[in-house]
Amino acid sequence: MNKTLVIYRSKTGFTERYARWISEALSCDLAAYGDRKQQSFDSYDTILFGGWIHAGRIQGVKWFLSQAPKLEGKKLAIFATGAAPAGSPGISKAWEQNLTEEERAKIKTFYFQSGLSYERMGLPDRLMMSAFRAMLKKTEGDSEAYRMVQRSFDCASKDAILPLVEFCRES
Ligand SMILES: Cc1cc2nc3c(=O)[nH]c(=O)nc-3n(C[C@H](O)[C@H](O)[C@H](O)COP(=O)(O)O)c2cc1C
Repeated sequence: MNKTLVIYRSKTGFTERYARWISEALSCDLAAYGDRKQQSFDSYDTILFGGWIHAGRIQGVKWFLSQAPKLEGKKLAIFATGAAPAGSPGISKAWEQNLTEEERAKIKTFYFQSGLSYERMGLPDRLMMSAFRAMLKKTEGDSEAYRMVQRSFDCASKDAILPLVEFCRES
C-alpha cells in the first residue's frame, strides 16, 4: 500500500489546518517542520511538503528541496498557502522564484488560499503587514487587495485539497 507523509511549516495555523485535512483525507502520517530531523523518509512512497508564503518566499521549501536528491523515485508534491486568491499573478511568480524549472518538472505544486490572522502573527510580521498595507494604499488606492488585508480573514476551504488528494491517490 502507498504510504504518505505530510510535513508542514505553519506560523498562524492555516498551513497546519490544510496539512491535517490532507492527512485525514489520505489517512497518512503528519509531521511538523520542527520535527523534520527525526523523520526517516525511507518507508514512504509519497512525501508532501506544505509551507506558507512570506513576501513571496515559501517558508521551509529550501529545506524540502535540499532533501529532494535523496527522495529520488518517490512521489513528491509541495503545497503553499497564502492570502492571495488562487490564480493571482503573485502566486505563479512565487512558484517561479522558489523552485527552479527542473524542480517544477519533478515536483507537483498546489496552492491553497488561506487568509490572514493578525492575532496569531508575531510583531515583526505585523509590522511588515502594516508597511505592506501602506505600500498598497500608495500604489493602488482603495483597491480590493488593499481592503482585503485590512483585517484578519479566513477563507481556507477543505475542498481546495481535492486535486492534491487525487494526485496522491493516482498510482
Ligand atoms: C509578513 C507576511 C507576509 C506575507 N506575504 C504573503 C505573500 O507574499 N503572498 C501571499 O499570498 N500571502 C502572504 N502572506 C499571508 C500568509 O501566507 C498566510 O496568512 C498563510 O496562510 C499563513 O500561514 P500559517 O497560518 O500556516 O502560518 C503573508 C503574511 C505575512 C504575515
